[in-house]
Amino acid sequence: MTDYTVKKLASLAGVSVRTLHYYDKLGILKPRYRPENGYRHYDEASIIRLKQIMFFRELGFSLDEIVKIISSPDFDIIEALKIHREELVKKSERLRELVSTVDKTIKNLRGEDKMQLTTDLPLPLFVRGKVRDTYDLGKHLLIIATDRLSAFDVVLPCGIPDKGKVLNQISAYWFDQTKHIVPNHVIELVDDVKVLDKYLPAAERFAYPQYLAGRSMVVKKVQRLPIECVVRGYLAGSAWSEYKKSGTAFGIPLPKGMLESQELPQPLFTPTTKADEGHDMPINLAEVKKLVGNDIGEAVKAKSLAIYNFARQQAITKGIIIADTKFEFGLENGKLIVIDEMLTPDSSRFWDVKLYKIGQSQPSYDKQPVRDWLERSGWNKEPPAPMLPDEVIASTSRIYRTAYERLTGKQLK
Ligand SMILES: Nc1ncnc2c1ncn2[C@@H]1O[C@H](COP(=O)(O)OP(=O)(O)O)[C@@H](O)[C@H]1O
Ligand SMILES: [Mg+2]
Repeated sequence: MTDYTVKKLASLAGVSVRTLHYYDKLGILKPRYRPENGYRHYDEASIIRLKQIMFFRELGFSLDEIVKIISSPDFDIIEALKIHREELVKKSERLRELVSTVDKTIKNLRGEDKMQLTTDLPLPLFVRGKVRDTYDLGKHLLIIATDRLSAFDVVLPCGIPDKGKVLNQISAYWFDQTKHIVPNHVIELVDDVKVLDKYLPAAERFAYPQYLAGRSMVVKKVQRLPIECVVRGYLAGSAWSEYKKSGTAFGIPLPKGMLESQELPQPLFTPTTKADEGHDMPINLAEVKKLVGNDIGEAVKAKSLAIYNFARQQAITKGIIIADTKFEFGLENGKLIVIDEMLTPDSSRFWDVKLYKIGQSQPSYDKQPVRDWLERSGWNKEPPAPMLPDEVIASTSRIYRTAYERLTGKQLK
């Protein structure tokens, strides 16, 4: 049997000799023996007992309680543990809150938590869309993705933290991934706001706001084709409505007996006009060709389908179905390039592979919690929309970040 002097046990357990003396006096940790006028001696059983005492101390038991636990056999130890457990749960919740307050404070001090709902740069505005603000840099455009969110075609009064960064960086990711299929308008991402100096004459430079970093890109300004190149891989939305009535989608006959959200035998190119005002109208390939010419008409169709096929095959392996999407093209010295945004949740229908069920409409990967909440709120879908509760905002922000991380395998910058 190993023998421990009081000093040895104290140093092993990290308590003071005085504490051990005191525990002896209380009768909760008796030494195995104590020679007359000599040091107390302990054994392995004492170590186990001491561990129990320290465990109860750490849980917040008083020494009185510990005396009872150890010396009165009818003390209800389970009941006592339950009470302390409850206290612990409360404490851990409080600690979790503290940790997230610390995280928020760090973000706040670094200026990273600021949502960017509007921009007001001393530059000519090219266009202010529902979500993005685009400024004219002469030969270039500066496209800024804000944290604005629209649902049911209405811009909400509150934003979604990080959404703009996610949109900008998802777009950038796909532009890069598909540049072998068709060149695009990207010149560079604004990771560091200083790069903007390159695009402005000295007299027009200004103190670029930090929020531009990560959420904006400089692109070539080109002549835009007056069409929206929609590609659909699944039977949803207006294609499903039409199919139910006539068995066609945008006039294209489809197999009989297809179900809502079913994958189409092959992706369809279903272009629309790009109306400056009012609604975009579906047009067929012949009409596209009338607007942009035969060769460019054929090319936008082939390129749209090629980019979509490439991207959806990649996305599905990462758990995201890109059900349909919209591209825009422009001409750079007569050559076709893809512009605007690319394969973001704003320009596409994203579905979660795990939630996909044929024969019904699919929850939107990114906007479903917002839509569900708005539906439940009883809002009549006329502006202004109500404020979203904090938890809906927080979970939507998380969804956008995960979409980015899943698709690109990278952390958001
Ligand atoms: N490289 C580019 N050159 C010229 N116009 C572009 C380029 N990239 C995008 N655009 C145009 O900028 C506009 C951006 O508007 P957007 O933010 O999408 O607003 P909306 O909500 O009205 O669609 C679109 O009309 C798009 O065609
Ligand atoms: Mg747009």
